Amino acid sequence: MENIRNFCIIAHIDHGKSTLADRMLEITGTVDKRHMKDQLLDQMDLERERGITIKLQPARMQWKDFSLNLIDTPGHVDFSYEVSRSLAAVEGAVLLVDASQGIEAQTLANLYLAIDQNLKIIPVINKIDLPAANVEKVSKEIIKLLSCKKEDILLTSAKTGEGVEKVLDNIVANVPQPKSKAKELQALIFDSSYDEYKGVIIYVRLFGGEIKKGDKIKLVAAKQETEVLDVGYFKPERVSDSNLSNGQIGYIVTNIKDLVKAQVGDTVIAQKSKLKALVGYQETKAMVYAGIFPQEGSEYNKLREAIQKLKLSDASLEFEPVNSQALGFGFRCGFLGLLHLDIFQERLKREFNLDLIVTTPTVAYKIFLNNKEERIITSPAEMPNPSHIEHSEEPYMQIEVITPENYMGNLMSYIIEQGGIHKNTEYLDESRVVLSYNIPLASILVDFYDNLKSISSGYASLNYDFKDYRTCQLVKMDILVAEQPVEALSVLVYKDKAHQIGKRIVAKLKDVLPKAQFVIKLQAAVGGKIIAAERLSALRKDVTAKLYGGDVTRKRKLLEKQKKGKKKMSKAGKIDIPQEAYLAVLKR
Ligand code: GTP
Repeated sequence: MENIRNFCIIAHIDHGKSTLADRMLEITGTVDKRHMKDQLLDQMDLERERGITIKLQPARMQWKDFSLNLIDTPGHVDFSYEVSRSLAAVEGAVLLVDASQGIEAQTLANLYLAIDQNLKIIPVINKIDLPAANVEKVSKEIIKLLSCKKEDILLTSAKTGEGVEKVLDNIVANVPQPKSKAKELQALIFDSSYDEYKGVIIYVRLFGGEIKKGDKIKLVAAKQETEVLDVGYFKPERVSDSNLSNGQIGYIVTNIKDLVKAQVGDTVIAQKSKLKALVGYQETKAMVYAGIFPQEGSEYNKLREAIQKLKLSDASLEFEPVNSQALGFGFRCGFLGLLHLDIFQERLKREFNLDLIVTTPTVAYKIFLNNKEERIITSPAEMPNPSHIEHSEEPYMQIEVITPENYMGNLMSYIIEQGGIHKNTEYLDESRVVLSYNIPLASILVDFYDNLKSISSGYASLNYDFKDYRTCQLVKMDILVAEQPVEALSVLVYKDKAHQIGKRIVAKLKDVLPKAQFVIKLQAAVGGKIIAAERLSALRKDVTAKLYGGDVTRKRKLLEKQKKGKKKMSKAGKIDIPQEAYLAVLKR
C-alpha cells in the first residue's frame, strides 16, 4: 500500500486533462510512443471528435518505485455523479488550469467536489507554451482560491511534456497512500461498462482485502450475487492479473447480465460478508426528457434495438415506448442533462444510421394532488385535472457563471429575465467575476448556454447543479385547430407565460398549416378558456368566374351560398395536419 498512489485530474473542459494523461502514459512507459495517439483515454469516436471526455477512464502506471493509478474524469456536469464517485476512489487530485484562460466554472465545481472528498489538491498551470499564457495572473487566481503558496503551483505544457515529470514526482511525494477501511474485501464501484462478449465489467477501488478469479461476491445495494470471472487493471486497455489487492484500482468481470444491477456507487463484498456499503449509494435520476421518433415509421424496430443496445452501457438512460398522434411510434427518453441527450441522439444517428425527430426537451415536474398523492410528470398528457391539483413543483438549478467583468451587466439582466434568483457575486481577480444564481432547469434547457456565450462574446463559462424542487404555477395549454384540441401540440407552461407562448404557437401554426376551402380557427386555451387565437384564411375558389358583367345581386347570392357552405365544412372540418406543421412546433 505504501507504494500505491491513486489520483485523478480535474479541470474545466479543454484545459488539457486528456493531453496531460497522454504525456504521463508516455513518460512512464505505460504506452509505447509508437502506439500513442492523441487523447488516448478518450476512447469513444465521439469523444475524440468533440474533444470531450464522456466516460471516465482509469490507467495504472509505474513511476520509479510507485504504482500510480490515474482516473481521467469526465469534465462535464451532466456526469458529475460519476465525477464524485471517481473522486471517492482516489486520495489526490491534480487541479489543471489553462494558463491562457484561468479558472472557469467547472474548475470550481470539480474543485469543490474534490475538497468535499478531502483530496490532496495539486495545482498545475497547463499550456505554458501558449503565447497567450499568463502564468502570473492565473497563479494569483489559484492562490486566492486555494490559499496555497506560489511555489506549490506546478507549471506544465502537456503538449510538449515540459514539467510533467515534476507533476509525477509531486504526486508520489504529496498524495497520501491509500487508506484501508476493512480487513476483508470491500470495494467501491466507481464505474461499469458493458462488453458484448464478456458482459458487465465493474471498475473498482479496493478499500480492504483482495479479490481474485473464482471468488464469490455480492453487490450490497443491488443485493446481487455473482462470481468473479476475471480481474485485472487498466493500461489503459484491460490487462488480466492474478488478483487485485487492497488500495488498488482495477476491474472485475462478472456474470451479471444487466448493467442496471452494477451501478456506480455500490460496494462489492465477499458473498458471506456482513460489511456495509462504503458510501451512501445514490441512484442517478433523469432530469431532462425528450421524445425520440424515427423519421421513417418503418424504422421503429431498428430504433428500439439501437436504444436497447445503448442502454446496456448507459445505466442512467430511461426510456419507454410512446405512440404520438403527430409523430407515430417512438420513445420517451430520460437523461441526466442536455449533453447526455445530445450525445445519445448523436450516437443513435452515427452508430446506427438512424434519421430521427427529437422533440423539445422538458423537465420532470412534481404534482401534488388534493388527496396527498404525489406524481412526477414529464409530458402534458400526464397532467391531472386541474381541480385535483393542490400545487406543482419544478426542478431548480444552482448555476455559476464566470465572466469578464464588462459583460456582467448584460449577463445579469438576461439571467434574471430567465427567472434567475441572484445568490452571490464574487470577484476572482480585478477583472473576472463569479455570478451565482438559482434558476429553473426549464429555463436553461434550450438555448440558455448559447445565449450566455453570445452575450459575452464567447467568454462566459457555465456550471450547473441540481438544487431543489420549488413551487411553480404550471398549467396545461391546449392547442385547438378548427376547434378540435390536438393532443400532440399541447404544452406545459407557466400560467403567467401562457398567453405569450400561446400566441407564438398559433402564429407559427398559421405560417405552416396549408390553407383549406374554409377558414381555420387556431386557438390556444388553458382550462377551456381561449387565451390566444389566429385565423387561417380560406383558399377562395372563384365561384363568380362564370358570371359576365353586371348582375350584382346574383354575384352576392353566389358568394353568400359559398360562405354558408364553408361554414358547414369548417364545423365538420377534420383538418389533416401535416408532419411539418407538428415539427415546427415540437422539434428542438
Ligand atoms: P475534456 O476532455 O473535454 O474535459 O478536455 P480536456 O481537459 O481533456 O482537454 P484536452 O486534453 O482534450 O485538450 C484540449 C485542447 O488543448 C486540445 O486541442 C489539446 O491539444 C490542447 N492542449 C492541451 N494541453 C496543451 C498544452 O500544454 N499546450 C497547448 N498549446 N495546447 C494544449
